[in-house]
Amino acid sequence: MWKALTREISPNINSCELTHLNREPIDFEAAQHQHGLYLEALSACGCQILPLTPEPDLPDSVFVEDTAVVVDEVAVITRPGASSRRPETVSVAKHLEAFKPLARIEAPGILDGGDVLRIANRFFVGLSSRSNQDGLEQLRTILEPHGYVVEAATVTGCLHLKSAVTAIGNDAVLANPAWVDVDQFAVSKVVEVDPTEGYGANALLVNSRLIYPAEFPLTRRRLEEAGFEVITVPASELAKAEGAVTCCSVVF
Ligand code: GLY
Repeated sequence: MWKALTREISPNINSCELTHLNREPIDFEAAQHQHGLYLEALSACGCQILPLTPEPDLPDSVFVEDTAVVVDEVAVITRPGASSRRPETVSVAKHLEAFKPLARIEAPGILDGGDVLRIANRFFVGLSSRSNQDGLEQLRTILEPHGYVVEAATVTGCLHLKSAVTAIGNDAVLANPAWVDVDQFAVSKVVEVDPTEGYGANALLVNSRLIYPAEFPLTRRRLEEAGFEVITVPASELAKAEGAVTCCSVVF
């Protein structure tokens, strides 16, 4: 059965890191409600939810994706690019060691899971403000012996590579071409976001279905017209914290 590592939202979410967005008040109760619907969508897609220990003092700790990259053979505990986020990895490592052998990204490497795009057995690492070449090379050293390929990807204008592009199949991506050149992924199918929905490139693929923010109806229509099954969840509150649907879980 698929498992989804998740964590409840810190009541200090309004002190989260922000890189490309101006700070807007986040309604904590509304965010909790939306997060609950997200967990329901994960369950509906066949995931067993694994809740991590809450971390009320770590504002960004709901965004568990950034703390680990998990494949069948190993769980890679990252070293997040924002130093405020590094303590989040402690409880994640404790939880994942029950399921997988652990490997770790060490200094001077930095790596956020949000910069790690998996398309079948290929991994693309966005060299952003949160992930560097050293982190990429460490990930390559860990994953390539297991048959995976790890490559760099260029991204601009947004926080993470997966703000700009996500996998929606083994040979398909959803992308915002203003932030990323999709040719570098060499896939046969590309769905572009509607130009008015720049933040709409983040979809979470689980068991052939896409969990997708309700805030991007025009892009949703494009996905459905392309034959994808889409489950929408409201995600507007955590979007103000520069988080989206992939950010809130590690599915393995
Ligand atoms: N607020 C999400 C992040 O900056 O990591």
